[in-house]
Amino acid sequence: MSMEGKVAVVTGGGNGIGQAACIAFAREGAKVVVVDIDRAACEQTAAAISETGGVAHAFMADVSQSGDVQSYVKYTVDTFGRIDAFFNNAGIEGVVSPLVEYDEANWDRVIGINLKGTFLGLRYVLPVMIAQKKGAVVNTASVAGTVGAPNMAAYSASKHAIIGLTRTAAGEVGKHSVRVNAVCPGPIKTRMMQSLESMINPAEPTAVAKANVARNPMGRYGEAEEVARVVVFLASDEADYVNGAAWLIDGGRTAI
Ligand SMILES: NC(=O)c1ccc[n+]([C@@H]2O[C@H](COP(=O)([O-])OP(=O)(O)OC[C@H]3O[C@@H](n4cnc5c(N)ncnc54)[C@H](O)[C@@H]3O)[C@@H](O)[C@H]2O)c1
Repeated sequence: MSMEGKVAVVTGGGNGIGQAACIAFAREGAKVVVVDIDRAACEQTAAAISETGGVAHAFMADVSQSGDVQSYVKYTVDTFGRIDAFFNNAGIEGVVSPLVEYDEANWDRVIGINLKGTFLGLRYVLPVMIAQKKGAVVNTASVAGTVGAPNMAAYSASKHAIIGLTRTAAGEVGKHSVRVNAVCPGPIKTRMMQSLESMINPAEPTAVAKANVARNPMGRYGEAEEVARVVVFLASDEADYVNGAAWLIDGGRTAI
């Protein structure tokens, strides 16, 4: 097991990609702290892991709030003594709207959670890893961080910025044997994708799904588990010399 004896923290661990990553980290032997703003959801993920013999603790926190971030970091260090892997993943889609009509409050919310939340995670987890002289962070960007996403200005801007943050952090902390990478998923079958389909075409969301799938070389959406496996690999010692990468997991969507 690639994460045997290690401690992993996952934000947005209550659902979707984060939940799949919590389960994958636990399956590989890690103790997991499941962070989410949704208390019931993170408790459910932690319970599912505990029921199968793993070790997982739920911690409710809003990643956009500095005090909450400092609390989940302190809780993990107080409980398990260290943080080996950090999946900095919580994010929201915001609204679907032309840029020239994009609501300012929504802009602030998306940037606050996706970008400031990712920054705060790095800001408070990296010192722990630097002190350990080892650790690995995986930030969740998106294909929308590598190409534009019309009608999703805040989301796309936040995800491009996460790639910039990832590269900058990688450049700063590599000398401490701490690695920082990003994953860039394409459309993955989660609540977020369903929500986007409904916002893009409220009358016929399945038409959006069909069009997305038709545009993808693999002819399907990805599964959360398929992202989770790459995340665990990047966080493991198997990826020891991977630093500052933005790893596409999109079935080839942006290759064509
Ligand atoms: N699903 C996709 O197609 C896709 C593609 C590319 C990138 N992503 C990214 O993957 C990440 C996970 O998305 P998902 O598809 O699993 O979505 P999801 O909505 O299923 O899960 C997101 C989780 O984050 C939590 N969360 C939201 N705001 C939070 C906050 N302020 N503090 C703490 N937790 C918070 C939610 O409660 C939820 O449990 C996001 O960063 C998203 O942008 C998703």
